[in-house]
Amino acid sequence: MSATKAVDKLNIFEAEQELARLAGEITHHDKRYHQEDAPEISDAAYDALVRRNLAIENRFPDLVRPDSPSTRVGAAPASGFRKVKHRVRMLSLSNVFSDEEVEDFFARIERFLGENRPETIAYVAEPKIDGLSCSLRYENGRLVEGATRGDGEEGEDITRNVRTIGDIPDRVAGDAPDVLEVRGEIYMAKDAFLRMNEGLAAEGKKVFANPRNAAAGSVRQLDPTVTARRPLQFFAYSLGEVSEQPAKTHWAFLEALKNWGFQVNPYSELCRSMDEVLAVYRRIGEERGTLPYDIDGVVYKVDDFGLRDRLGFVARAPRWATAHKFPAEKAVTRLDHISVQVGRTGKITPVANLDPVTVGGVVVSRATLHNADEIERLGVRDGDMVRIQRAGDVIPQVLGVLLDKRPADSVPFAFPTHCPCPLATELARDAGEVDFRCTGGLACPHQQVGNLKHFVSRDALDIEGLGATHIEAFHADGLLNTPVDIYRLDRHKDALLAREGWGEKAVENLMKAIEARRTVPLSKLIFGLGIRQIGQATAKLLARSFGTLEALLETLDGAITDWNRHDGDRKLLAGDPEAASYQELIALDGVGHEMVKDMVLFFSEPHNRKIIDDLAEILTVEAEEVPVTDGSSPFAGKTVVFTGTLTRMGRSEAKAKAESLGAKVTGSVSKKTDYVIVGADAGSKAKKAEDLGVAMLSEDEWMDMAGAS
Ligand code: IVH
Repeated sequence: MSATKAVDKLNIFEAEQELARLAGEITHHDKRYHQEDAPEISDAAYDALVRRNLAIENRFPDLVRPDSPSTRVGAAPASGFRKVKHRVRMLSLSNVFSDEEVEDFFARIERFLGENRPETIAYVAEPKIDGLSCSLRYENGRLVEGATRGDGEEGEDITRNVRTIGDIPDRVAGDAPDVLEVRGEIYMAKDAFLRMNEGLAAEGKKVFANPRNAAAGSVRQLDPTVTARRPLQFFAYSLGEVSEQPAKTHWAFLEALKNWGFQVNPYSELCRSMDEVLAVYRRIGEERGTLPYDIDGVVYKVDDFGLRDRLGFVARAPRWATAHKFPAEKAVTRLDHISVQVGRTGKITPVANLDPVTVGGVVVSRATLHNADEIERLGVRDGDMVRIQRAGDVIPQVLGVLLDKRPADSVPFAFPTHCPCPLATELARDAGEVDFRCTGGLACPHQQVGNLKHFVSRDALDIEGLGATHIEAFHADGLLNTPVDIYRLDRHKDALLAREGWGEKAVENLMKAIEARRTVPLSKLIFGLGIRQIGQATAKLLARSFGTLEALLETLDGAITDWNRHDGDRKLLAGDPEAASYQELIALDGVGHEMVKDMVLFFSEPHNRKIIDDLAEILTVEAEEVPVTDGSSPFAGKTVVFTGTLTRMGRSEAKAKAESLGAKVTGSVSKKTDYVIVGADAGSKAKKAEDLGVAMLSEDEWMDMAGAS
């Protein structure tokens, strides 16, 4: 159809089809040329295909396919970089969007520190630079390693690339610790980005959607001479591993960074109250448009490093910092039609397919409508003009309908009653739930694909080289149905080799990537199973608490029996002394009745059970690393309960401290409890500990043993 249609005449549907066709065609010609030495078309004709693909992608950046030829041509494969283990984890930040949430952030810190906190807590407010974070390691003053953040635990070695960035000193000036890891943001200034895109477009190359993508794409080039030609800059703002602390406060550390030769953002300010912090937010917000680089909020950080140590982290973000984001950007466009997507748990999400529109520098052509209730609330229909908003990386949302622009022939949207998959199973909605779900379970191809994608994703098994497109293709060919099949792909080498664009080398690399993940930490396996409500933090908690998959499964089996005996009745389960397994799970701080319900449902499903049993056979599952394992901590491997009011630290701080010493903190006292730490006005738990003969510690004794006094 549109092979000869000019790119600027294509509508979004034609563009999508055309990109799919071009991806197939270019892959075919790549294979003929590179692997078979038998090109079918002239170089000029090939170039024309690549240019047409690029031109369509530049017009519809939202439609860029994961297998797009433009991401293959010239772009570095992720596997091209050596991996770097971060010695100090690289964290992300929690977000807040309103003054009330900022207030909560301040209150939480004060509560956490309890009564033992300074009168005034100082904060540094600094712009949140929209780039990519990077860690720079200096040894004896010389730059020895640059790494991307990656998943926070492990990044990629980009040393050769960072050396080409002018703002990054090769040597640190003056007195610096022998080992000094400086962290900060690589970014591209707005005008440099526009100039670079003009140059790329003139050469017929792919342009970038925004300065952040441009910075990331430029850093992740296997050829550092390409990076060197890109206008990249760097702001330093935090500390990784150091041989000795260079400062006691963040503000003093920023000063040291400047002396060492780093760029520190000039808008950073030391504040002594929430009002001061908010004033900085407003000021920076007003100047945002005139700044030479993109920022997406203001970061607030506790200034004092000692307080930061006490505050610690929740999951992947520090308690002592947060990002106050700027309000979302908005636009108006036409909603062409509503379609539905099936998620990995069968959840049906309606999606608004929009006429492409630019919102805050990015072209948007899809927005989420969340669920059927939201469609009803908005009263949105196909063909309506809608207001949409986009904030940071979150999926764009539909805010409302411009009713006066509604076409005369519009009809209300009828939510589908059946899954769009070939099984067309009926959709159902549990009482009290907003989401419709496909009842096909793992027989539904959408859910199978969703599960496989989740299983290989970075925070789960992290199988590189088995991307979303491969999963879809292998699934369509019947090579992959469950995660177990991934480890049996080597039985289908011939089928893989027969695929378009797959040579010996590619198949070998894929096998290697899979092989590299035959040994996995227990928490990643639990997370990878994709159990509803079991996110990374809970997976980690379960892994730490049970140690081995066998131990976890044994307790879950017990919990299933407990559950079935009482038909899932919360009261009976809590009251029954025989329901020990259920109680063991529920006692974990962070696991609730509903979570146990989802685990029971998941593990009592025979199909799931078979997958887990097979995985247990195929994989080597590593016990979770507990922070202190050398026996030097009196709390390593112990089960601890806090009760009563603590005066020397807040309850959350005490819990975090115990966990950092290897303890499992639970909410109720049982025979399995090793220590009960008794604060002021303790009630029934202290009594129960006494009855059961569990060791009890006063707050002072606990502080001594924890080395915190
Ligand atoms: S501090 C432990 N400061 O925001 C906290 N991060 O959403 C470490 N970012 O991964 C980060 N500007 O890439 C910090 N002034 C700033 C920042 C900043 C941008 C990025 C950074 C981080 C992400 C978290």
